[in-house]
Amino acid sequence: MSSSRATWWQSAVVYQIYPRSFCDANGDGIGDLPGILARLDYLRHLGVDVLWLSPMFPSPQDDAGYDISNYTDVDPVFGSLADFDLLLAEVHRRGMKLVLDLVVNHTSDEHPWFEASRRGRHDPQRDWYWWRGPRAGMAAGAPGAEPTNWASAFSGSAWQFDEASGEYYLHLFSRKQPDLNWENPQVRSAVYRMMRWWLDRGVDGFRMDVINMISKDPRLPDGIVGSVGSSGFGDGSPFYICGPRIHEFLQEMYAQVFAGRDAQLLTVGEMPGVTVEQARLFTDPDRHEVDMVFQFEHVQIDHGIDKFHPTAFRLVDLKASFGRWQAGLAEVGWNSLYWNNHDQPRVVSRFGDDSDRYRVRSATLLGTVLHLHRGTPYVYQGEELGMTNGVFGSIADFRDIESLNYYAAALAGEGSGAPQPGDPLADETAGGTAVTAAGPGRQPDDSTVLAALRRMSRDNARTPMQWTAGPHAGFSSAEPWIGVNPNHRTVNAEAEYADPDSVYSHYRRLIALRHSHPVVARGSFTMLLPDHEQVYAFLRQLDAEQWLVLGNFSAADVAVPLPDAADWASAELLLGNYPTGEAIGSPPDAPAPARSAELWLRAWECRVYRRTAPPA
Ligand code: GLC
Ligand code: CA
Repeated sequence: MSSSRATWWQSAVVYQIYPRSFCDANGDGIGDLPGILARLDYLRHLGVDVLWLSPMFPSPQDDAGYDISNYTDVDPVFGSLADFDLLLAEVHRRGMKLVLDLVVNHTSDEHPWFEASRRGRHDPQRDWYWWRGPRAGMAAGAPGAEPTNWASAFSGSAWQFDEASGEYYLHLFSRKQPDLNWENPQVRSAVYRMMRWWLDRGVDGFRMDVINMISKDPRLPDGIVGSVGSSGFGDGSPFYICGPRIHEFLQEMYAQVFAGRDAQLLTVGEMPGVTVEQARLFTDPDRHEVDMVFQFEHVQIDHGIDKFHPTAFRLVDLKASFGRWQAGLAEVGWNSLYWNNHDQPRVVSRFGDDSDRYRVRSATLLGTVLHLHRGTPYVYQGEELGMTNGVFGSIADFRDIESLNYYAAALAGEGSGAPQPGDPLADETAGGTAVTAAGPGRQPDDSTVLAALRRMSRDNARTPMQWTAGPHAGFSSAEPWIGVNPNHRTVNAEAEYADPDSVYSHYRRLIALRHSHPVVARGSFTMLLPDHEQVYAFLRQLDAEQWLVLGNFSAADVAVPLPDAADWASAELLLGNYPTGEAIGSPPDAPAPARSAELWLRAWECRVYRRTAPPA
C-alpha cells in the first residue's frame, strides 16, 4: 500500500470491551456502561486508540447480547441511552474512538421484525426472514423433515419448526437468532437506516458480526454430511459463507451508510471461513467494502473435527498461516491482528504457558509477536494483564449457550461429542480423574466433555475482568454472573499498572511503538525461519530502517540460526521481556553446534532489534 493510502487506523490499536464482564458499577453482578465510564482513564493510560463494545442493545441474552431485540436502545442491564451518550462523549474527550457491534445476520426472535414475520405466511414482513416448508414428500415437523440438512453453530439443526404456520425458519446460530433475509431490499434499507442513526449519534464505526454470512444461496442446497463434527448434519457453509451477493451487499452498505462522511471511521467484518483471496477483495480500498476483516485461520489451527476436539499446537503451522496472510495482503488490503476475543480461549493458556513460572514471559512474547505484524492489532480485555483461562469445576460453572448445548448433545450421544481416535484430550486429566478415550460413536463421559470445554469454551474469555486482588476481583460488589478466576489475587490491573515488568506495562510499550515508529504500521513484512519449531522470526522494513522480531515459543534455550545473527546481536535492542543487562550469549553447557550461533533466546523470550538496512 503506498503511503498516500495510509489511513489513521493503520497505526491504531483497538481494545475490545465485553460489557457484561468488564466492570459493574451498580452492584448487580453484571458489567455495565457506567462501569466502562469509570475505567476510561485506565484505557487511555494503556494507550489504545479505539474501543469496540460488544453488544449492549436490548436482548433476551440467549447468546449474551448477540441476539438483539431492539437495535436503537441500550439494555437496562447495561444502562440507558443517556449513559451511552455520556460514555461516547467521554471517550471522545480522551481522544479515543468508539465502535459498536453490528449484528445483522440475524436478530432475536423477540425483535418486532421477527414477531411480525412469524405472525403467518401472509404477513408483509414474512419474507424478512428465511421461511421454508418441509423437505419434499415429508410431513411438516416430522423427524428429518427440515428444509435442509444444515447444522446450527450451536448444535442441532439450523431450522426451527413453527407449528402455527407449518413452516420452518433458518437460524445459523441459536433458535432465538433467526437469520435475516438480505435478499429482501426492505431488510437492507432498515439495517442501513439503523447504522446511519448510530453514526449520526457520533459512533466511529462498526465491528460487523459474521457479516460474510448475510448472502445465502437462495436455493439452499443440502450440505455434505460428515464434515461438521461427527453429527448427522450437513455442512451448509459453502452456501452461506461469502455467498453470491456478499460483495454487492457490502458495497451497497458502503454507499448508503459510509460514503460522503468525512469522519474518521473504522469498519471491520468478522468473517469465519474467509480466504486470503476473498479478504483482499473485501479490503481493497478501491472496492469500498470494509477496512479490514477478522479471519479465523490462526485460531482454528488447533481444531480437530471441531473446536471441542482440539489437536496439538504446532508453531510451524501458525507461522505458515500468518505468513500467507501477510503476503496475501501486502500490496492490496489490510490485516487485522488478534489472539483473543469473547469467543476464543485465552491465548496465554492456549499458545503460551500459563504456569506461574512462564505466564508473564509467554504473554509478553505473544503480544510482541502479534503487534509487530503488519495490520491493526486488537487487544481483548484482560489480555493486557495476561489473564488466563477460567476455572470451571462442573457444567454448572459454564454460562455460554455454545458450551451448554454442546455438553447436552455430547452426553446424549448426539452431534460431535463422541471422542475421536487420536483425541489429545483422551490423555488429559479432568479434576484429577484420568479420562479414557471411547471409540467413535460411543458416548463420552462427563469428564471427557468437561475437559474439552475447559480448554476451548468461550466462557474462558468471559470471566470477570481482574481489577484488584480484593473480593470479586474488584469487578463488582456482588457475586458476579460468572465465576472470577482465583488467580486475580496475583493477576490484576492494580498490581500490574505501575510494575514496569508486568504484562500491562509491556503492552503499553508495544502500543507506543506502533504510534511512534512508522515501520510498525507501514513497513514490509518478511517471515524468517518458517520451519523452525520453536523460534518465530520476522523482519519489518521501511526505507532504510529494518527491525528483527524474535520469539522463543518454548521453555528451552534456543539458538536463532540466522546467517546475519552476529550483526543483529550488536544492533539496538528496542524491546525485550527479560531484564536488560542480563547476559544473552550462548549457555556454556550448550551442545557444540548450537554454541556457534551468535543469537540465543531464553525461555519464552522475545526481542525486537533495530538497525539500518545493509545495502541490497
Ligand atoms: C459471532 C460472535 C459470537 C456470536 C455469533 C452469533 O461469531 O462473535 O459471539 O455467538 O457471531 O452472533
Ligand atoms: Ca451492573
